[in-house]
Amino acid sequence: RVMRGKAGPTIGFLPVGVSQKDLVQVPNDYQVQVLYAWGDPISDGPAFKPDASNSAEDQALQAGMHHDGMHFFPFVKDGKPVSDRGLLVLNHEYVDDGLLHPGGMSGWSAAKVAKSQAAHGVSVVEVRKQGNRWEVVRPSKYARRVTAATPIWLSGPVAGSDWVKTAADPKGHLAFGTFNNCAMGVTPWGTYLTCEENFNNYFEGSAKPTNGAGALEKRYGIKKGGSIYRWNEFDARFDLNQHPNEANRFGWVVEIDPWNPMKPPVKRTALGRIKHEGATVTLAKDGRVVVYMGDDERFEYLYKYVSKDRYDPARPGANADLLDRGTLYVARFGEDGKGRWLPLVHGRPGLTSDNGFADQAEVLVKTRLAADAVGATKMDRPEWIAVHPVTGEVYCSLTNNTKRGAADAAATDKANPRTDNVYGHIIRWRDEGGAAGESFGWDIFALAGDPANPDPAKRGNIKGDAFGSPDGLWFDPEGRLWIQTDVSTSVLNQGDYANLGNNQMLCADVETGQIKRFLTGPKGCEITGITRTPDGSTLFINIQHPGENPLERSDPANPTAISAWPANQFGDVTGGRPRSATIAISRKDGKVVGV
Ligand code: FEO
Ligand code: CA
Ligand code: CA
Ligand code: CA
Repeated sequence: RVMRGKAGPTIGFLPVGVSQKDLVQVPNDYQVQVLYAWGDPISDGPAFKPDASNSAEDQALQAGMHHDGMHFFPFVKDGKPVSDRGLLVLNHEYVDDGLLHPGGMSGWSAAKVAKSQAAHGVSVVEVRKQGNRWEVVRPSKYARRVTAATPIWLSGPVAGSDWVKTAADPKGHLAFGTFNNCAMGVTPWGTYLTCEENFNNYFEGSAKPTNGAGALEKRYGIKKGGSIYRWNEFDARFDLNQHPNEANRFGWVVEIDPWNPMKPPVKRTALGRIKHEGATVTLAKDGRVVVYMGDDERFEYLYKYVSKDRYDPARPGANADLLDRGTLYVARFGEDGKGRWLPLVHGRPGLTSDNGFADQAEVLVKTRLAADAVGATKMDRPEWIAVHPVTGEVYCSLTNNTKRGAADAAATDKANPRTDNVYGHIIRWRDEGGAAGESFGWDIFALAGDPANPDPAKRGNIKGDAFGSPDGLWFDPEGRLWIQTDVSTSVLNQGDYANLGNNQMLCADVETGQIKRFLTGPKGCEITGITRTPDGSTLFINIQHPGENPLERSDPANPTAISAWPANQFGDVTGGRPRSATIAISRKDGKVVGV
């Protein structure tokens, strides 16, 4: 049973106010430094050029753009994880081509496409604390970039199937690259999971789809003329008219071993093909691996995966396939506060050949269609998922859904209770009998909102500091719930969001429901990615796309039109244009962040 009302872990800082300044702001007794910004070399490679004139080859040895999900893997000394040295692994979700190249997208070329591809993916950098400051270790034998071109194995039921065979990979075992990597997960065996989210925006859809490809492309949002990154103009594999299966090789969870830079990453197809936000891993009582996952789009679903076999800490090599054999489920939230995990297993009602699913590979390639067939609950954009370190209770950000209740869309239900849900909410559930259970009880932790909104339905029920569009969500080991926001730049500081300031990070006591604002970001940024050192003395987060405008593409003639962060705040950072960056936050007295 979960106890409510008693005090949770200490959350002792004095909250900061909302802010529209072009700065990172934290409570007075805290300090911030920039650790790893877009363009910084991962090792002893090429230096960042503030005019964006680095080549694609340079970019492949530098931090990508748009930092997102992240984890700190500590080094181990005398059998104990240390807090002054580790590998920081982080996603580079997407790019702003207006900032990435001199002249932005004018004179669009193969070289610009190659640079855009190299600015996507994942970074592995070695970091260490020297005195009071963190630095990237240069050179480091661990330093690595995974980009949109890196060879990546396919594994699980879809590997080798006709769905993923291409001219470049006739056997369907080796994909090239990963992109739109949003949130993440960490396995008990020490690997990093990076999740492919809005992969549809990279493909030119089929003009004359065959074999039902039209319905599949449509269900995942792939459109003719829909390639907003324009890679297809110089790289034919992103044109589905020429390479119809290429898109089926994206939308997966990708496993990376950060300690072995020579080992190719692996796309784990048993975890389903959706617009994966994250992949939050926990263990069931009997040692089976449980992965919670959201599909971030309006009216999409929540999933979980349960491995067939048990995790064995004594045999690290035996754990490699736990993410290949197991059951994928999708959630149905009942109106009575109870819910069911519905298995997406070929042969079950709705998932047979008669319904268009020939085998498990087809169920997985068409995960969204399989979830439609079993009657899952359409949610308000599931983003990050966090598991309470003691109770095992699971929390998920439902960031917003302004179409909820519209004439042509799904009505409200108890799990998604507001029409025109501009601010989002955080839902939570307790799997019965432990994480592997097939039923759960659920309730809503908080309805976000602005208590000053003239519309009472939009005021929310937050106890404490106001926010909207929760996205990043993470429990620290003491059980503080950290909430990061991603208010779209199209509505930031306007209308319903006029009072809520720039994107922010808050800290919640889930026992009492109290929420305090810990940090506010610079202009046009999202706050995302969160991890810390084992001793809690340093918290790392990402400032994603400072200076973003509603078009998500900057004017190359005036790159600092909205933001000049981080150079405007930190004298030791090169300017020229705004840069996504990992920042390190610590208390001046060295105590645990949040205390
Ligand atoms: Fe990339 Fe759903 O945020
Ligand atoms: Ca997100
Ligand atoms: Ca988001
Ligand atoms: Ca973003």
